[in-house]
Amino acid sequence: MRTRIASLSEIPPGGTKEVAVGDQVVAVFNVAGTLYALDGICPHSGGPLAKGRLSGDVITCPWHGWQFNVTTGHHCLAPRIRTGCIAVTVEGDDVFVETGDPPS
Ligand code: FES
Repeated sequence: MRTRIASLSEIPPGGTKEVAVGDQVVAVFNVAGTLYALDGICPHSGGPLAKGRLSGDVITCPWHGWQFNVTTGHHCLAPRIRTGCIAVTVEGDDVFVETGDPPS
């Protein structure tokens, strides 16, 4: 399901945004002008990744400090731990994500 989630101007370089798409929380990150999106719920214990600190392409979870590369979803120290990547596209000033179908 393709969903418009924001205007590009709402997520400037270095910025993050958390949005709910159906029952999924999506974290969007702007790394030097390129947008990336991950499952917004930290796989450690459910922290809100988009509310963490973004440094370059690394997001630090605000709850216990786990760090993920936002371009791959991999934990920075334990790459076998991974959060899901979500396709994000920009058309003009509109930002879209591609998520699973909503529950029927
Ligand atoms: S919930 Fe994210 S590091 Fe613990």
